Amino acid sequence: KKSVGLVGWRGMVGSVLMQRMRDEGDFGLIDPVFFSTSNAGGRAPEWAGSTALQNAYDIEALKKLPIIVTAQGGDYTTEVYPKLRAAGWTGIWIDAASTLRMKNDAIIVLDPVNRDVIDAALQRGVRDYIGGNCTVSCMMMGLAGLFKHDLIDWMTSMTYQAASGGGAQHMRELLTQFGLLNASVKTELADPASAILEIDRKVLATQQSGQLPTEHFGIPLAGNLIPWIDKDLGNGMSREEWKGEAETNKILGRGEGFGTTPIPIDGLCVRIGAMRCHSQALTIKLKRDVPMDEIADIVSKGTAWAKFIPNTKEDTLRALSPVSVTGTLDIPVGRMRKLSMGPEYLGAFTIGDQLLWGAAEPLRRMLRITLG
Ligand code: HSE
Repeated sequence: KKSVGLVGWRGMVGSVLMQRMRDEGDFGLIDPVFFSTSNAGGRAPEWAGSTALQNAYDIEALKKLPIIVTAQGGDYTTEVYPKLRAAGWTGIWIDAASTLRMKNDAIIVLDPVNRDVIDAALQRGVRDYIGGNCTVSCMMMGLAGLFKHDLIDWMTSMTYQAASGGGAQHMRELLTQFGLLNASVKTELADPASAILEIDRKVLATQQSGQLPTEHFGIPLAGNLIPWIDKDLGNGMSREEWKGEAETNKILGRGEGFGTTPIPIDGLCVRIGAMRCHSQALTIKLKRDVPMDEIADIVSKGTAWAKFIPNTKEDTLRALSPVSVTGTLDIPVGRMRKLSMGPEYLGAFTIGDQLLWGAAEPLRRMLRITLG
């Protein structure tokens, strides 16, 4: 069995990763070595044999491992990865953070979509395998069929991104805000005769009072939305929006770096008050007029997790909401129809649990691929 170093296994993404690895029996195939950035010498989880935690900044200890999987975050990668490689480590680095993602010799892993790219990279000795941006990975898991058939001429993605994309503290902040809003109108809500405009006025007053916690989102998200995610690139684009085209094409092995033209993908990324599922409304310009039943078939067969949802109100309410998708690996794709712009214009709506396909799942699958 190969030894595998695990870093950042206790955080939100790390915990989801550990659970998935346990569910799939991955620990039976490896000798896990648990690292900690804050609690070296402490104990690894009981289910993993309570071994002593090693120091995640100890380059000599890390160097002994043929494979390291980290969900510790970008700051850790920035600090430790260069030192480890400089010390001559030649092992496989599997990482959830975006730090190394666009490096020329790093691969963005999403094997149900780009297993060929991953296999070719392993063959030529590439050693860095990085999970993609959550929005990109979830979208591609849903639309893989259209990409495989090279049917997409260009695409826009308008997102509805959950609080979890920011982190655990963001989820807590959102719920605290919701609670305080509710508390500010509790009496009025209990009275069916109270005036709705008075309730609305009080809610707005609370949202604008500066009294809601906003340390993580900057402004209240509860009863609100934020049409900006991640850094301002200074060209009118947010970094999250930039990732759409850049990462999708890199995952597919397309674009300038590969001597081919990239698929243009652009849109607006918006934070909404959902918990952990990212949703996206897509406008897809097809390369040709493909009949709807063929499109449904292509999407359904794109990956084992893509689920075509018939475009009816009943099916949409049943299967196409963050609440119905959370905690599952399903990527429903619904609301599909030809738009009034013409037969090559396709509308769609897709949803994915950003902690599963958006973060943990591609990493554990890459670990499996590495183990052979
Ligand atoms: N940047 C994403 C978000 C999360 O903020 O929703 C991780 O890819």
